[in-house]
Amino acid sequence: MAPPGPQSGTPPSTPPAPPKHQRRVKQSKFEHGLICLVFRAAFRGLEAGLKITGLHARGRRNAADTQLNRFDIALTDLPAAFDGYTILHMSDLHADGPIDLEASVGRILDGIDADLCVLTGDYRYRLSGRHEDATAPIARIVKHVRTRDGIFGIMGNHDLGTMIAPLESAGIRMLVNDHVILRRGSDEVQLVGLDDVHAYQPAEEAAAALAAMPGGFRILLQHSPELLDEADAANVSLYLCGHTHGGQICLPGGIPVMTNIRTHRRYARGLWRHGDMTGYTTSGVGVSVMPLRFFCRGEVALITLRRA
Ligand SMILES: [Fe+2]
Repeated sequence: MAPPGPQSGTPPSTPPAPPKHQRRVKQSKFEHGLICLVFRAAFRGLEAGLKITGLHARGRRNAADTQLNRFDIALTDLPAAFDGYTILHMSDLHADGPIDLEASVGRILDGIDADLCVLTGDYRYRLSGRHEDATAPIARIVKHVRTRDGIFGIMGNHDLGTMIAPLESAGIRMLVNDHVILRRGSDEVQLVGLDDVHAYQPAEEAAAALAAMPGGFRILLQHSPELLDEADAANVSLYLCGHTHGGQICLPGGIPVMTNIRTHRRYARGLWRHGDMTGYTTSGVGVSVMPLRFFCRGEVALITLRRA
């Protein structure tokens, strides 16, 4: 009987391999700069208004109030030995941001024992400058993670290729268009990590990377829920993502004002179905653009897989 634990084509003890594809931003620098400028101006105006009404402090308190969210996901064809398998899912830590979540998230993690931990990108708040301000706190946070099969991560739209090595040094196995096989006895699950399709990798490139991998029961890690059709066509059973922050600034009832995705807003938060595929879009741990949350708390998700 094979011992539990992940296996892949490259032994975990080898030095971090460079990404197999060249990361390149899809937008031109001018386009990206213009969009950032417009959004920043709009959000600065909104923040100023919230400060006048006193709601800004409330939003900051909400943003610091990360919650543990435990739930089951039932999946058809889940290999029997994985019934009850637990996945600790965190995303969008934005660890160099104005809200310091290190201590509170550490306390949540200290109370968790999981089979696997997955990080679905956006380790960093800023889009330029030193990445160490994000990778250093991430390294401290993951010291609180206890799992049997390890910690795996993917890249988000805030992250740079230069962050892969420090994240790997922190004990996070980065999957950049790569996969590992998780085993329980003779049962196997394929864990696939694809580079971000929101700002970096074209969807067709991600689909080609998926097509080149062996088949099997597939769990996909992708930063945003914008690879739905390609993932469903590639027989992905479970799609785990973040990016939207659940809207971050929501109306009562958790209705997002903005989702920042090029797909339907029903995929912006929580559990969803697309074709034969089940997905979960986490509200994420941290915040970006503004250090505020309304009607949408940050979360650490603890998922238990169930055989449907
Ligand atoms: Fe994010």
